[in-house]
Amino acid sequence: MAQTSRDSFKSQFGIIAAAAGSAVGLGNIWRFPYVNAENGGGAFLIIYILAVIFIGLPVMLSELSIGRSAQSNAFGSFRKLAPKTLWPLIGFIGILAAFIILSFYSTVAGWTLEYLYLSLKGNLMQQSSSELVLTFEKFTSSIYRPIFWQILIMLLTALIVVGGIQKGIEKFSKLLMPVLLILICIICVRSISLPNAIRGLEFLFNPDFSKITLHSILLAIGQAAFSLSIGMGALITYGSYIRRNESLIPIASWTASIDTMVAILSSIMVFPALFAFGLSLNAGPGLVFISLPSVFQSIPGGNIIAIIFFILLAIAALTSTISVLEVVVAFLIDEIKLNRLLATVCATFAISIIGIFCTLSFGPLKNFTIFGLTIFELMNYISANVFLTFGALLIVLFTGWKFGIKKFVEEISIGYSSKKIIPLTIGFIIKYFAPIAIGTVAIAALFIHGLT
Ligand code: PHE
Repeated sequence: MAQTSRDSFKSQFGIIAAAAGSAVGLGNIWRFPYVNAENGGGAFLIIYILAVIFIGLPVMLSELSIGRSAQSNAFGSFRKLAPKTLWPLIGFIGILAAFIILSFYSTVAGWTLEYLYLSLKGNLMQQSSSELVLTFEKFTSSIYRPIFWQILIMLLTALIVVGGIQKGIEKFSKLLMPVLLILICIICVRSISLPNAIRGLEFLFNPDFSKITLHSILLAIGQAAFSLSIGMGALITYGSYIRRNESLIPIASWTASIDTMVAILSSIMVFPALFAFGLSLNAGPGLVFISLPSVFQSIPGGNIIAIIFFILLAIAALTSTISVLEVVVAFLIDEIKLNRLLATVCATFAISIIGIFCTLSFGPLKNFTIFGLTIFELMNYISANVFLTFGALLIVLFTGWKFGIKKFVEEISIGYSSKKIIPLTIGFIIKYFAPIAIGTVAIAALFIHGLT
């Protein structure tokens, strides 16, 4: 089998920036605060952090090890490591997940461009909280504007992917991630000094465990998988670009820590504004677009901050959309032997078509529901809580029981000189704890609650 030499990341910092670029995105800033708000604040946060440590981190390490040892795309890696078995089907599920995620993710990424445009025009600054709700509803339920922005995001994603992403992504992420963190901190500081902010922080940090159900644990695992970009092969693909002398443990730990920090900071950014401006905790997907402009209004120079914030949000979304599209494109190139241009065009076109249906489900297709959910809600829900959760389950099963813990521990011990007990513990978690925990929660919650 002829194998062309693969690109590789230049430095450890570059890998972490790229992996964090994929991880940090709308999942942290847009999705986390409202899933958190709808599921009981502080108690959900604790379950979420446990899910990141005991499920997210081990799965990240599994994916990186699989990709690095096979040096191939999400499907090809399983084919190489487990030829003539059904395991490569995990790669197909990942590709399907990529379709589902990008279709609704591009809808929301498109919204950030509209909000950037509104901030540039200065429109957001004069509106009351209730007007902001109306603006959001009017915009998302219209037809052409949201589709226009969505297609633009897909084209930008395609443009970067078509040029080959390694240099672009690594450089882009190294520059962007620190700026994003600084800006979020500034907005957080302003947010916690709003009147009534303390009630928002209490909601976030005072855990009320009576709110925790099997279903909310499933949502926490799903959100952790979504936010860390695990369960569908994005990290297998990135892992295949990591050189053999790099240690995977610090890469995964840094990525998970940055990602979790941004998620928590995003809730700190959003919650005080909810209480300060009397907004609803159940604002759902509109939450960030309604509550953050309220915070910006109360900051001196808030319009400039709004502009910078929406630019960064769009770029944070882009570093994630690229990694999702690359899963499909790498598959089409390696397995179907398309060239990169054709692969990118086909993938972008097909995903955009499904994406348009997601966008329209806020307007003309509002009443078209499946299992009581609109197309957008369905894609949003099943991506994290069905595809990525079951994807993560299959990946730990593969690592623990097919690839083998011995090889896995060897792979993550490369370049890792600290205590041996750590790789061994992670191996144990992957083989026994993670499959039982994810499997039980996912199956029980789906069985008990269905899709809603
Ligand atoms: N992790 C990204 C975010 O939080 C979304 C994503 C999911 C990217 C799965 C790649 C794979 O926004």
